[in-house]
Amino acid sequence: MTDVTVGVIGAGLMGQELASSIGRWMALTDASFAPRITAVCDLSSERRRWFERLGTIEVSTEDYRQVLSSDVDVVYIAVPHDLHEQIYTATARAGKAFLGEKPFGFDLEATQAIVSAIDESGVFARCSSEIPFFPGAQEAVRAVMQGELGTILDARFAFLHSSDLDRSKPISWKRRVETCGPGGVMTDLGMHVFHVPLRLGWGIEVLAAHLQNIVHERPDGEGGVAECDTIDNATIFAEGTAGDSQFPIVFETKRIAPGETNTWVMTIVGTESGVSFSTKYPKSFRRFEMRAGRQVWSVEDLGSVSAHPSITGAIFEFGFADAVQQMWASFFAEMADDLAGRYACATPSEALEAQRVVDDALRVGIRR
Ligand SMILES: NC(=O)c1ccc[n+]([C@@H]2O[C@H](COP(=O)([O-])OP(=O)(O)OC[C@H]3O[C@@H](n4cnc5c(N)ncnc54)[C@H](O)[C@@H]3O)[C@@H](O)[C@H]2O)c1
Repeated sequence: MTDVTVGVIGAGLMGQELASSIGRWMALTDASFAPRITAVCDLSSERRRWFERLGTIEVSTEDYRQVLSSDVDVVYIAVPHDLHEQIYTATARAGKAFLGEKPFGFDLEATQAIVSAIDESGVFARCSSEIPFFPGAQEAVRAVMQGELGTILDARFAFLHSSDLDRSKPISWKRRVETCGPGGVMTDLGMHVFHVPLRLGWGIEVLAAHLQNIVHERPDGEGGVAECDTIDNATIFAEGTAGDSQFPIVFETKRIAPGETNTWVMTIVGTESGVSFSTKYPKSFRRFEMRAGRQVWSVEDLGSVSAHPSITGAIFEFGFADAVQQMWASFFAEMADDLAGRYACATPSEALEAQRVVDDALRVGIRR
């Protein structure tokens, strides 16, 4: 195994997910890389201390430039969206390979600047989007790519949360336009719903959008009240294009979807077959087919069948942490030109296209 050193900029929720993923890297049975986190950057000393417990940290700093000037091979950047342009472009200009968290820029303009910096520097850079690594999503993508669905008739992609139903939940940077981005929930969750259709090579033209700001104020965490100005729920009605066929696609990104916790859904129906998968039922892959003249939606328990083999047998379940680890395995494998046909991480140009869709939805959308 080749040793790879990793620097983490942003030691919050997702930074810690990477650390946990690397902590159980031995679960992957054919990984040719052995990643090790040797540098961490966060403004919070408490969060840096969390990483220092790993015992592998050589650089612990609140200045991200110290990570970029260190000798790490790869940088993972998981900071609020208003910092993406500054830190991602600096990372590219420092010549470091990196995985940047979605949305890969605060808005379309920022993502364009990031993509230009990557193109100019020639560094290997990818955008985080782990849900398509779930076995059900992988099987759906395989079926569509192999033409098993015939002519596509319609599609739905959704990413749904509900914790914002609780109006006493304090404001965070994700609930403010100035730090989250102009598309609010679309900026935050859009990459999750656009990644698969973009990977399938579909064109996406936004026809209409319904954009709701449902909760206007939240506790500021200091006894007061703060304005909550982001779009909470967005439904985009689009036309997809695959080859010569056009079809409707509905995209939903919602923070207030009662009953849902990080639920990712994809359903695609064609003239020959259909596929449907939801992380709410992580093992269950649904397929539509005609059987002896009867219309059948069947359910197959896929179990834990991953693109990068692991010690977890197919009789077990696959979860969010597994998806994160599979995404990172793809990142390292692609960096070493060893992907061997497996699903690759989202590219900077896919992130740019996702921002273009969000931008279009903001322009044509009805705001409520
Ligand atoms: N892929 C996913 O499923 C997923 C899930 C959640 C968040 N995210 C993305 O991850 C990124 C971070 O989100 P999060 O939920 O981890 O946020 P978070 O608030 O938990 O963590 C962000 C961290 O960045 C630190 N930070 C802020 N300014 C900094 C600076 N100037 N230098 C260094 N560190 C700084 C904060 O102190 C904090 O610890 C965002 O881009 C978000 O969209 C992705």
